[in-house]
Amino acid sequence: MSLVLGIGLRSGTSYRELRDLVDAALTGLEPAVVTEVATVDGREAEPGLQRLVASLGASLFTATKLELSQQSVPTPSDQVDHLAGTASVAEAAVMLSGAELVVPKQVSARATVAVGRLPEEAATAAPGYAVGERDVVHRVLAERRDVRRGFLDRPVADDVLTRVLESAHRAPSVGLSQPWDFVLIKEVATRRKVRDLAAAQRDAFAASLPADRRSAFDGLKIEAILDTPLNIAVTCDPGRGGRHVLGRHADPRTTWFSAAIAVQNLWLAARAEGLGVGWVSFFEPGEVAAVLDLPSHVELVGYLCVGHVGEFAAAPELVRSGWAARRPLSWAVHQEAWGQRGLPGVDPGAVIADDAAAAAGAVRTVGAQAVHLIVAEVASAAYLEHAEALVVQVGAEKPAADYGVLWRPARTVDEAVELGVEVARDLVLQGVGTIRLELASDSAEAAGLARGVRLGALACGAAVDEPLQMKDSSA
Ligand SMILES: Cc1cc2nc3c(=O)[nH]c(=O)nc-3n(C[C@H](O)[C@H](O)[C@H](O)COP(=O)(O)O)c2cc1C
Repeated sequence: MSLVLGIGLRSGTSYRELRDLVDAALTGLEPAVVTEVATVDGREAEPGLQRLVASLGASLFTATKLELSQQSVPTPSDQVDHLAGTASVAEAAVMLSGAELVVPKQVSARATVAVGRLPEEAATAAPGYAVGERDVVHRVLAERRDVRRGFLDRPVADDVLTRVLESAHRAPSVGLSQPWDFVLIKEVATRRKVRDLAAAQRDAFAASLPADRRSAFDGLKIEAILDTPLNIAVTCDPGRGGRHVLGRHADPRTTWFSAAIAVQNLWLAARAEGLGVGWVSFFEPGEVAAVLDLPSHVELVGYLCVGHVGEFAAAPELVRSGWAARRPLSWAVHQEAWGQRGLPGVDPGAVIADDAAAAAGAVRTVGAQAVHLIVAEVASAAYLEHAEALVVQVGAEKPAADYGVLWRPARTVDEAVELGVEVARDLVLQGVGTIRLELASDSAEAAGLARGVRLGALACGAAVDEPLQMKDSSA
């Protein structure tokens, strides 16, 4: 019997308290193995929880407050709702994982636990794969991390590296063109040159940020070029395979997609070998190409820092540092056509705006940063002179500036509202606490987008500050 533990816990809950609670909850169940532990986003870095998960040999999954609050649980709690922004964490997390609740919520001073059994059909893996093997694949996917810290002073053995490269080289590719190559870099002198290039780009990026975002960025590590024994540059030869590559004629981007998939295969295989991989993209690709003496027809796709690590963090570094947060899966799944959002088995139609309204007040910690958000029909270049301004262009024409302008050509007012909610949510997740909203267009779509921004901000706990005169103001 495969079991799922749903766990709600306050910050700082000890391993001992969790363990006692779990042991009590599992008492009396026939011999069973706990394969998953599920909790709410943001708790994955709790040391007590991490130790519990490791001691059970289980995988850790997290869900957003929104996803949890949408589960209809047997014992919702106002107190939990007040503390966590969802009426249930433990039971809801079990239900979200597809398990059937077999032990109702158990409570200790600082934590709750519920136990679920995975249904029989979930125990059937594909032909040729035992259930445990299937679960390992999903576990590797869940536990792959972009790693920049904690590398061990240990070389990568040739046989291990060869296995990893073989997996990378098995990646799917358009027309089986296999457009990638792997440049293995160990020389410190070469790596120093590459590190210097990344350092320059880091400075340039930092200089482009508004003050508070910049201080958050200062605390982030963005590469481990010299901290790892091995760097791998993955390249792409867009012409590989000649003129008649099956499937590439209509969409040449597929060549680069293929090379990127090779990186992902490498990343996953490395995870299974205990190798951390950190992708560095703080480069002008041509400069790295020059250091590595790449021929002109070959382009850099990914630059990876690779080395053994003692452990892999349960959550992305950017989440743990508060720089960014994950987007709910339920926002990313559309049924049949764009906008019909819903997870498999759930009636489509629950739009982002409804979710945001339902989640209003759930997120309680917001950043101190203020952003001047300008909703315009066409972005004026003058707006972009202000680092703290974000211009959202709602007009149908694609903006000329690649960065600094968010092009959101909403086709209906409802779509505009959704886009506005997402814009606000992204800002809040990036540390914004106040949105200074300027509406520089009187179209219905622009008004809808502004409405979505207000709704999204309300849902995420940010303030919207709107000067009285709204139209035709310049930045
Ligand atoms: C194309 C690409 C480029 C990236 N560039 C960098 C980078 O320059 N520096 C960095 O620290 N992380 C970089 N990352 C790692 C992401 O920040 C990381 O994948 C993301 O935060 C999710 O974390 P996870 O990979 O641990 O799940 C990059 C990832 C990708 C896919």
